[in-house]
Amino acid sequence: MTKRLYIETVGCQMNVLDSEMVVASLRKHGYELTKDPKLADTLLFNTCSVREHAEDKTYSALGHLKKLKTTNPEKIIGVMGCMAQKDQRTIFERAPYVDIVVGPGQLQQIPELVAKIEAGSKCEMAVGLGRRDGSVDEIKRSHETFDPLRDPTMRPTPYQAYLRIQIGCDKFCTYCIVPSTRGPEQGRPPQQIYDEAQLLAEQGCKEITLLGQTVNSYKYADGGTTTRLADLLYRLHDIEGIERLKFVTNYPKDMTYDLLQAVRDLSKVSPYLHVPLQSGSDAVLQRMKRGYTVQDYREMMERIRNTVPGYAVSSDFIVGFCGETEEEFQQTVELVKECRFKNSFIFKYSERPGTKGAELMKDDVPVDVKQRRNNELLAVQTAISEEDNQEFIGRTVEVLVEGPSKRALRDGHNDELILQLTGRTPCDRIVVFDGNRRQIGETLPITVYDATAFTLFGNAIVEAFTPQVSPLQII
Ligand code: SAH
Ligand code: SF4
Ligand code: F3S
Repeated sequence: MTKRLYIETVGCQMNVLDSEMVVASLRKHGYELTKDPKLADTLLFNTCSVREHAEDKTYSALGHLKKLKTTNPEKIIGVMGCMAQKDQRTIFERAPYVDIVVGPGQLQQIPELVAKIEAGSKCEMAVGLGRRDGSVDEIKRSHETFDPLRDPTMRPTPYQAYLRIQIGCDKFCTYCIVPSTRGPEQGRPPQQIYDEAQLLAEQGCKEITLLGQTVNSYKYADGGTTTRLADLLYRLHDIEGIERLKFVTNYPKDMTYDLLQAVRDLSKVSPYLHVPLQSGSDAVLQRMKRGYTVQDYREMMERIRNTVPGYAVSSDFIVGFCGETEEEFQQTVELVKECRFKNSFIFKYSERPGTKGAELMKDDVPVDVKQRRNNELLAVQTAISEEDNQEFIGRTVEVLVEGPSKRALRDGHNDELILQLTGRTPCDRIVVFDGNRRQIGETLPITVYDATAFTLFGNAIVEAFTPQVSPLQII
């Protein structure tokens, strides 16, 4: 008999990928997906612990299920992902109607855990080892994932997929919970990565985004040879059907010249680099234990500028970190102006119990100051994005068409033949244009006629006129 699965995902791309894998494995056990929690036999929440707000949202979503579970006790509720790893048994205490708690390294056990609950067990928990709770190998094994199980219906679009190349993180930035929820850094074997990329290509995927917390620190040692990200890119570049390769998230110190050369020389690799800076103040960077200085970051920007034509760099920032003075914050504002990021994700510092930051420093910047700094930095970044996007007006860009635009979906034009479409340039800029359903999944030249901070607006070039486009104009 078919059973129904409801799954809700928050957090980063790692979680999107993990949810895809869990759906793939439960399908093998007779499950199909439903969007309605009331119709589901099993409900799974894939969670994030990076900021308190993400956890609050999950606990509140779980709170809403209390009634459903009371009236339908046979429904199975599971919490998976980073918050499951971090809070463990506390989840059963805060939400007693949860049946299963499962960490990111134990996802392959979900069908088994569900079966145990069905067989009458009251609750089941499977989590990875803490960073001091065993030998390095034991800890690593307890955080491994089972990536080769894939499910095309769970991708951002049928043409785009994530591929994990690295598990965990060893950087231990003082604010960050990820090293404890995802365990030690480990590169996946290159052959596994290659085979999975091949499988994705066979499933119709044109764009692959390689994932790792510090993806450019990727390394895999096998006998005498060490494979790095640049080597992987060269290997993956040969796969037929793959048109674009991206990789996130980068660590500034590991943005080496040979990697940038690979980005420049390999036509399928997007010149889009997400390299979080976090703060423009050396003192704050030191308190965050980021392991680089403002000068190091400047030199990296210089290397990118000198090596990769048509590059776009984006960043993350934390405002209001422990002890951040107004002067330190202004240094961040100045550096954003200097670096001119394509876009920045800006977060208010959220203290995470269990991190060095929470243990050793005071979360002493008032909430309203954090909010003001967030708004100010965002305004500066938005103005830069808008200004730089104007440069695209009149240019022809190459767009991988992802599907109907938000407006088309909102206005219910999803099924029409002619509709507004959206896609991205190789440098990760969003382009919206009027097109034809059949263009979804294609890579098309689009001429830009208008631009805002977040979107380029363009026209599809009619086939007969394309030969006139100079390759130099294609970004
Ligand atoms: N591995 C990636 C980022 C992982 S988390 C990297 O190193 O860049 C994504 C972003 O969330 C981080 O870049 C940081 O800006 C933000 N973040 C992480 N911990 C946070 C915290 N405790 N409070 C606020 N923002 C945080
Ligand atoms: Fe967190 Fe730092 Fe690791 Fe990124 S590099 S996941 S911010 S500890
Ligand atoms: Fe969140 Fe875990 Fe990703 S804490 S940001 S889901 S690695």
